[in-house]
Amino acid sequence: MATTAAAPTEFITLAHPAPVPDETRVQLLENPGFGTLFSDHMIMVDWAEGEGWHNATLGPRGPIALDPAAAVLHYAQEIFEGMKAYRHPDGSTALFRPEANAKRFNVSARRMAMPDLPEELFLESVRLLVEKDAAWIPDLEGASLYLRPFMFASEVFLGVRPAKRYKFMVIASPAGNYFKSGAPAVSIWVSSDYTRAAPGGTGAAKCGGNYAASLVPQAEAIERGHDQVVFLDAAERKWIEELGGMNLFFVFDDGTVLTPALTGTILPGITRDSLITLLREEGLTVEEGRYSLEQWREDATTGRLVECFACGTAAVVTAVGRVAGHDGEFTIGSGGPGQLTQKMKNRLTGIQRGLEPDTHGWVARLD
Ligand code: PLP
Ligand code: COI
Repeated sequence: MATTAAAPTEFITLAHPAPVPDETRVQLLENPGFGTLFSDHMIMVDWAEGEGWHNATLGPRGPIALDPAAAVLHYAQEIFEGMKAYRHPDGSTALFRPEANAKRFNVSARRMAMPDLPEELFLESVRLLVEKDAAWIPDLEGASLYLRPFMFASEVFLGVRPAKRYKFMVIASPAGNYFKSGAPAVSIWVSSDYTRAAPGGTGAAKCGGNYAASLVPQAEAIERGHDQVVFLDAAERKWIEELGGMNLFFVFDDGTVLTPALTGTILPGITRDSLITLLREEGLTVEEGRYSLEQWREDATTGRLVECFACGTAAVVTAVGRVAGHDGEFTIGSGGPGQLTQKMKNRLTGIQRGLEPDTHGWVARLD
């Protein structure tokens, strides 16, 4: 459903009757965690067939009324994005490659038979919210304001077809470490009983259903004492794909790096894409290809594989130290973060946080 309607002319700003008092906010921001604290405001824009995008507001964050027959509650027509606003040393705020999120949002929308959202409207929404709630960016090392743009089918209808009404919203959540422990290296569980995405499915789209499908294997990972689940391909149950919310990189002793290719069942991570560029700038050869679980185990055992890391907006760059599955477990390198992992994390976050020059035009400053 490619329906690119004109962007609404203007956002209406609704006054907040009772924003969180400054002292309370400062206190809350001392330990933001991930995903539990929210800023004062939100963006909401409506779409209807024949009308396009309209009714754009920046208003107080709060519950929304939804009819029990709203299509999203039944058929899960829902997509989202994840991005961060950072405080730079000069006090300004900045986003990282927001156009890439705007583009991916529309790729997801098309796969889920939802209307396109004009990129400018996506970007303006995010900018407005961050400007309004900039005080919610925690002043802590490694912290940021996590932004969650999302769209869902709001039409009141139980027939199975693309809805005729949608809502696009953006909320913001101050964020510290994604992993509770702030773990230097995570341990991951290889799921052999469950897969995340099949060829022809929705694996490359950022839709809520993909995450719902990952919850049982993720719970299995936690139950067995691991931090995250890693998925194998659905067809052969052989090739490494990605984690529930992160892409993977493998570093070999000859200085080459491998990351699973974007076969349609993997989310094309913006962090992944940025790291490929930065790794090549380091003079490393980066291959996008296939890597089997068997090979992974063998390479970790022989020492050919020296490092492995996962990456994504929420988790940034995180070393994978240990891998376990039904056939036993193995350790990668020393089991802690390797040199290249640490270096790439520093390079990426340095650019995002305005500590290193942005030679790719990735940083979008807001003021
Ligand atoms: N893979 C999945 C399934 C994800 O949910 C995410 C997070 O958004 C990623 C990979 C990493 O993508 P990005 O780097 O754009 O955050
Ligand atoms: C992100 O990194 O933004 C993600 O979407 C991963 C997870 C929090 C869903």
